[in-house]
Amino acid sequence: MDKNTNQNAESEMQLPVHTRKTQPAVRGGASPSVDRLSDLVCRELIKRATEMLQFSYAPYSNFKVGAALMAKDKKVFTGCNIENAAFGPSNCAERTAFFKAVSEGAKDFLAIAIVGGKEGVITDYCPPCGVCRQVMSEFCDPDEFFVILARSEDDYWIYSLRELFPMGFTPDKL
Ligand code: THU
Repeated sequence: MDKNTNQNAESEMQLPVHTRKTQPAVRGGASPSVDRLSDLVCRELIKRATEMLQFSYAPYSNFKVGAALMAKDKKVFTGCNIENAAFGPSNCAERTAFFKAVSEGAKDFLAIAIVGGKEGVITDYCPPCGVCRQVMSEFCDPDEFFVILARSEDDYWIYSLRELFPMGFTPDKL
């Protein structure tokens, strides 16, 4: 290993959980559960999320979002954003996927991939809004559930829910 590679590896190791999967040898340390997510699964979820952009109903923002949520039994639930003329009733892609899943009996989840962009063109990562993070935290262990933010199947980051939503208000508080 040359000096530069070693330096890169060391600085990457100092990152918390989030991990660029294009460098699978270097993974963050805080949550070993991320290792259960194979590159193959991530790519499949990104593909399914991207396919959902065609169904996005976003005539007001023109910002299309697709999501693919995998349950622990590997079943995948997809979603897109659905806007409304009254704005308030609009639903994000992530929540569409979660509500589809929960309404069909799924409650244990592994990961969600999210893609989005203006006119459905993906130019950047699309992080989930705060409301969607809250919905995720209702059902998911913050250290065992992973959010995949992708620009393509080859370019994605994985975050634990805890990283994206520290100190959330969770069901155990009640
Ligand atoms: N949106 C999502 O569907 N998910 C996100 O994580 C961020 C935002 C949608 C909501 C709205 O339809 C559009 O993107 C612009 O905010």
